[in-house]
Amino acid sequence: MARPLIADIDLDALRHNYRLACSLAPDSRAVAVLKADAYGHGAVACARALEGLAPAFAVACIEEAVTLREAGISTPIVLLEGIFEAAELDRVEALGLWMAVHSDWQVEALLARRPASPIPTWLKVDSGMHRLGFAPERAEAVWQRLAAAPGHACDLHLMTHFATADLAATGYFAGQMTRLAALAERLGAPLCLANSPATLARPEAHGAWNRPGVMLYGSDPLEQSNAASRRLAPVMTLRSAIIAVRELPAGEPVGYGGRWVTPRPSRIGVVACGYGDGYDRHAVDGTPVLVAGKRTAVAGKVSMDMMTVDITDIPEADIGSEVVLWGRAAGGEVLGVDEVARHCDTISYTLLTGVLPRVPRRYHGESGTDPN
Ligand SMILES: Cc1ncc(COP(=O)(O)O)c(C=O)c1O
Repeated sequence: MARPLIADIDLDALRHNYRLACSLAPDSRAVAVLKADAYGHGAVACARALEGLAPAFAVACIEEAVTLREAGISTPIVLLEGIFEAAELDRVEALGLWMAVHSDWQVEALLARRPASPIPTWLKVDSGMHRLGFAPERAEAVWQRLAAAPGHACDLHLMTHFATADLAATGYFAGQMTRLAALAERLGAPLCLANSPATLARPEAHGAWNRPGVMLYGSDPLEQSNAASRRLAPVMTLRSAIIAVRELPAGEPVGYGGRWVTPRPSRIGVVACGYGDGYDRHAVDGTPVLVAGKRTAVAGKVSMDMMTVDITDIPEADIGSEVVLWGRAAGGEVLGVDEVARHCDTISYTLLTGVLPRVPRRYHGESGTDPN
């Protein structure tokens, strides 16, 4: 038997989540964010599954766009951080990309060039995230310069990113919205603002375009889930099996450092999955897993290739039993990646993007095609 660990990717669930994003914002178009290899799900497979549904894709850099173009993806692709050096404009043109501009040097590079056709450009405004973008009071002048150069830039949009759209407290988000809305009104500019939490919970942020990312993969980014976020379906199931069983008396330490000690006579399942696969070593005792479709928990420190789980109360569990680290079990039971992340003191984004290449991806879904 081959090592049983696999990441099953449900492309129907991806399309379901994308359609949900669209249905929540019927007057917007949704650019599907496929950066970081589609949050660890495989950008080419996800792009193929969304082609014809999503009018545009978003990535972080040219290299990610090249991967998609080389796979034959012709849908428009926007570079969320724009170019990293002026020379990249050659490839922006050759690949027909759209780009964000967040810095003076990028604007100068764009205006210094004579593209064969103008480049669709999203002007990034720092409305409060304080990461990338022009301060609102400067953005107006930059916008006017770009608008006055239609041979260089076209289809101008204002873009911003929210720092707190996921939080229940709305004060900081509202401040970002107010700054952006005032600027947009002065310029009559179309907007691209909403990430997943804003798509799910902040209709006032829905613009000409929204930029849902993590919700497409079935993770709920909201601090307080809502009716919409509860309709998300998990796309990745990280699935393995029990490869050995230990029967131990009470009082026996399990794994490195003996962090977990059997509180009673216990059955321990050894699972083929570890931090060498991307499973988070910070998972505490009690982190949920599904064994044979039933909830139980991590018991002992995660090691590189294996981890141990308590199967005392699942007598039918044995060597070969299915273990779901997150996602959907064969019987339909779901363990959300967000819940696992909370036990690892992290967020779903790091777990999903952290699944390492040695874990084979297996694609499912009607029109999904395996890129390999
Ligand atoms: C500029 C930008 N837009 C959109 C997104 C998508 O965010 P989310 O995955 O929270 O939907 C990201 C993700 O980090 C981003 O950096």
